[in-house]
Order: sequence, then structure tokens, then C-alpha cells
Amino acid sequence: MKVLVLGSGAREHALVNAIAADPEVDAVIAAPGNPGIDATALCVPLDILDGEAVAAVARTHEVDLVVIGPEAPLVAGVADVCRRAGFAVFGPSGAAAQLEGSKAYAKEVMAAAEVPTARAHVCTTMEQVESGLNALGAPHVVKADGLAAGKGVVVTDSRDEALAHAAACLARPEGRLVLEEYLDGPEVSVFCISDGTTVVPLAPAQDFKRVGDDDAGPNTGGMGAYSPLEWAPTGLADEVIARVAQPTITEMRRRGTPFVGVLYIGVALSSRGLRVFEFNVRFGDPDGQASIARLETPFAQLLHAAATGALDIFGPLRCSADRAVAVVLTAKGYPSTPRTGDRITGLDAAATVPGVTVLHAGTALDETGALVSSGGRVLDVVAVGSDLAAARSAAYDAMALIELDGSHHRSDIALKAARGEITIGA
Ligand SMILES: Nc1ncnc2c1ncn2[C@@H]1O[C@H](COP(=O)(O)OP(=O)(O)OP(=O)(O)O)[C@@H](O)[C@H]1O
Ligand SMILES: [Mg+2]
Repeated sequence: MKVLVLGSGAREHALVNAIAADPEVDAVIAAPGNPGIDATALCVPLDILDGEAVAAVARTHEVDLVVIGPEAPLVAGVADVCRRAGFAVFGPSGAAAQLEGSKAYAKEVMAAAEVPTARAHVCTTMEQVESGLNALGAPHVVKADGLAAGKGVVVTDSRDEALAHAAACLARPEGRLVLEEYLDGPEVSVFCISDGTTVVPLAPAQDFKRVGDDDAGPNTGGMGAYSPLEWAPTGLADEVIARVAQPTITEMRRRGTPFVGVLYIGVALSSRGLRVFEFNVRFGDPDGQASIARLETPFAQLLHAAATGALDIFGPLRCSADRAVAVVLTAKGYPSTPRTGDRITGLDAAATVPGVTVLHAGTALDETGALVSSGGRVLDVVAVGSDLAAARSAAYDAMALIELDGSHHRSDIALKAARGEITIGA
């Protein structure tokens, strides 16, 4: 099998590694890839928002499967162009990707599928916002409708801050926003693979959004993650499939926009029970890496079965008993003003730590061919171990060997879980 993977971040690096490890795979092409991915796949330059150009690359390399990593090409309908060109594609159509492309649309589908989720108001005027804030109370949750690269949501006790963000959301092209009731409790990510009819879960994971230890500071794209969640109810993944993923997949099929790909479900285990706070239509980054690192089912065969409507032959996915921890290394000044162009050293040494894989998120080669940082999130150090404590120490042993001037990483990823300090409803 020959596979084309679209994207250039740590998520795509994890996808490329897992696909290349599948015995059925004889070649992986990544577009545009990155210096880390280049060690495993043939990287080709490409504008991944240009569906015709993607189909042309797929044709040139005679691939058997196209895997679309990030949300932007999915929402732009690149999967539709590739399917029309005759390729098997892992990733939803432009219409189905609206489950992430529009939070208002996602709420509409959740209501039709009777999915447990936060009460919400979709608003197009500030008058509606004012009355919605009154109705839902504080803390206020205000969400931009469209894609916002993790900067579209504000959760605040301050009415003024909520109103200011609402005004900014209404000024965006989509001209509407979603207000939600506040959900308490720990957050969990569940990645559900679907072929449009059948849907199966990977092991749940949890990520860390805030930049600082103890969840201090602003939200980021994600500073780390781990899997499994030993503190969560044992049947959690099955409950998410039964009450959320399967009804949603069935509803999308009923609407004539079947969902083929990964449905990333963000749930809160709130004091009033399981509640969905968002859908994404791609693997999380870094939480997806923690789940994928534990998967034993051959990955390319799994994605190909989903892309070709044959998931039911797979049965439940196989997952290792190992624990996985991912820690993100970020550049100086991230998330507001990340500095780029700094030399990165120590990766070879870090990769020798048992159980460790170093994924490239934001790296490039400078004019001398040296590896430098090229984004806010630079590397993900992913480690597996027999328990969370072992996986944590492997990850941090490797992180200690990596040098990047002015860089930052959290020191408490999976710490509370490893110490057994997380309880539901806390
Ligand atoms: N109803 C809610 N109650 C409490 N917190 C919430 C609620 N909805 C969202 N949040 C918080 O805000 C964060 C971002 O919200 P959400 O996941 O909907 O936005 P997003 O921008 O699509 O994020 P992502 O980049 O992860 O896709 C969540 O991780 C959660 O911490
Ligand atoms: Mg989202």
C-alpha cells in the first residue's frame, strides 16, 4: 500500500510513523511534511488547500490512500476533490467537516442526534448575546462559530470580557457565535474512527491546554497529553460511542453527508454526567499522539478500511497495556509571540531513551542545513512505559537532553494522574 499524508506538524509526524510501521505499507509520501517526517517519508512541497494539486500528487505517486491531517483542507473540501478523482480518502467531506467548521452546525446535529451537550444559544446580534448571557449565567462561555486555531473560545466570569469577545466573534465573516452553559469536571478527548456507518474508539486521552504548570496562563494549542485515563469510569469509551459517536454518525448519514474519518469528541465528565463541549474532525495534537502511541491494530489498514467502508471487518481495536505521555517543547514567547530560527540540538541523544519518540511540530533546516525552530510548538516528546510514572520519567529524561535556547515546557504533564490525585466531580 502507498499512502499520501497531508500536513506538516507533530500530528502528521505521528500519523506517518504509525502508517509506515504497518506491514502492508511499502511507501509513505508526506505533503509538505517536515525535517522529522523526512526521515520516514518522501516529502513533497504542496499547497494542501488546493484539492486539484493534491489529487495530482496522489496520481503521480499512484497512492492507494490519501490521509488528510489538519482541519483546514478538510473544511475546504479537499477530500471531495480527491474522492472525485477516484482515491480512497481518510477524512470527511467539506459538508461533513462542518462538524468542526461551524460550532453552531455541530450543536444543531447534536440536538438532532440527542447527544448530551451543554445548553447553548446561537446568536447573530448583541441583543441576543445579552439575553443569552442572562439565561445561561456565569461562568460565561463564548465561542466563535468558525475555525479559530484554538483562539475562538473565551471562558470567563467577567460579563464585560464575554461581551467584548462576543462583539469580536460577530465581526468575523460568519457573523454568528455560540454561547454555552459552563461545564465543570475533567475534560477527555475520544478519537472515534468511522467509515460513515460503523464507528470505533481509540483509547481516551487528556490534554493540557494552559501554557504553565498547574494550568496557569493562557490557552495554547496543547502542551501535553497522556493515555489511558486510569481515574475515568472503565466503560467511558463505549459510553461515548453509544451516546455520542454512533448517534452522530447515523444522523450525518441520514442527512446525506456521511462522516468518514476521525471524529474527535471533547467531553466533560461533569457533575451532571457526560457532556460534549466540541467536535473536531481530525486527530488532536498532542492528545492524538498519546492514543495512537498505544494502538496495536495496523494503522494504515485501519484508515484504509474506514476510507473504503469496511470498518466492520476490523472489530474492536487492539490497544497496548503501556501508558503513553506526550510533552510539548515550545519556543520562547509562545503562545503570544514565539521566537523562531533558534538551533535545536540533542535530538539523537533524546531518541535513544527507551520508549521515546521525538516528533517534529515546528522545525526547519536553515541555510547551513542545521535544524532550527520554525513555530511556537517545536517538538513533541512521546514516551511509552509500563505505568504513567515510567512513561513520564522517560519523556522528561529525553526532554532534558534537548537544547533550544529560551524554550519552555510544562513539568507536570500527567503528574496528578500518575499520583492518583484525579477524581470525577472534583
Ligand atoms: N461549555 C464549556 N464549559 C466549560 N469550559 C468549556 C466549555 N466549552 C469549552 N470550554 C473550554 O474551552 C476550551 C476550548 O473550547 P473548544 O474545544 O470548544 O474550542 P476550540 O477552539 O475548537 O478548541 P480546539 O483547538 O481544541 O479544537 C476547551 O478545551 C475547554 O477547556
Ligand atoms: Mg475545536
